[in-house]
Amino acid sequence: MAFQVRPPWLLLLHFIAVIFILPAMASLPAPPSPPATVFDDNYVVAYGGDGYHMINQGTEIRLTMDRSSGAGFRSKLAYGSGFFHMRIKVPAGYTAGVVTAYYVASEPERDVQDEVDFEFLGDTDGNPTTLQTNVFVNGHGDREQRLRLWFDPAADFHDYAILWNPSHLVMFVDGTPVRVLKNLTSRGPEYEFPAKPMRARGSVWDGSDWATDGGRSKVDWGRAPFTAGYQGFGVAACAVATAGDTAARCGSPDLWWNGDGYKSLTAAQQAAYESVRRNLTYDYCTDKSKRNPAPSECSFT
Ligand SMILES: *[C@@H]1O[C@H](CO)[C@@H](O)[C@H](O)[C@H]1NC(C)=O
Ligand SMILES: *[C@@H]1O[C@H](CO)[C@@H](O)[C@H](O)[C@H]1NC(C)=O
Repeated sequence: MAFQVRPPWLLLLHFIAVIFILPAMASLPAPPSPPATVFDDNYVVAYGGDGYHMINQGTEIRLTMDRSSGAGFRSKLAYGSGFFHMRIKVPAGYTAGVVTAYYVASEPERDVQDEVDFEFLGDTDGNPTTLQTNVFVNGHGDREQRLRLWFDPAADFHDYAILWNPSHLVMFVDGTPVRVLKNLTSRGPEYEFPAKPMRARGSVWDGSDWATDGGRSKVDWGRAPFTAGYQGFGVAACAVATAGDTAARCGSPDLWWNGDGYKSLTAAQQAAYESVRRNLTYDYCTDKSKRNPAPSECSFT
């Protein structure tokens, strides 16, 4: 292998990157990277598995929505804690009404599900996709937050993650925390925190009646099909067989996502999170028309 002489300016750039850029990005203790995994190892098609609406390419899948159907997938197993990751590229162009979702949710039971959502809300031409997050506990939702991301999520794949352990729930975008819900259940029943076994799920679906401009901008089927890409099907989570064994085993500090380094945000993560929060375009905690007074957890962000 030839020895390459690096020009001094490259060395300087490298130096600058190490001193200034890397610390700013040191937002997350690097998790042990899960082994490269194909879709079929951990996931199955939920709907749209007709060979067109969901295309399985092994390490990448495409979900497509047109007038006849959308598509969705789910993990084979349910989990009681974990660090869920997915790389997603949302549909580009005119996507008003189109919702691209990645979420963890308990079995769909009437009115009592636990659920943690990333929902990418498409928009009209020239308006970037908005990220909406939401948390349901025992079927209680109405916890929407909306964020204009600092990049175009339709231009490339980005990393979206949900850390769920006995201390807190943290949602990350490319390693930056964008949402935190602390587990404050010991303070009283008004502090809700997801506890049911949940499956990881993804889907692309028609949210015309609410997703864009409050439902005024709808899916334009003339612009279909709308296609999203998903990658990264390794799962770092605690599989559960029954609801009963969740808390005891999946709360163990021996599971790396429950251990030191994952119990609270570092100072750098907290600072990054606060600057993201200043850019929320909607926050249920400050929407008095929806909940007044604001839910108890809003005092602990
Ligand atoms: C939340 O914290 C309580 C103790 O404060 C614990 O008993 C419970 O298992 C935790 N919830 C989850 C889902 O880990
Ligand atoms: C917040 O918004 C400002 C102005 O639009 C932008 O410059 C900044 O990058 C955003 N910060 C984050 C963390 O999204």
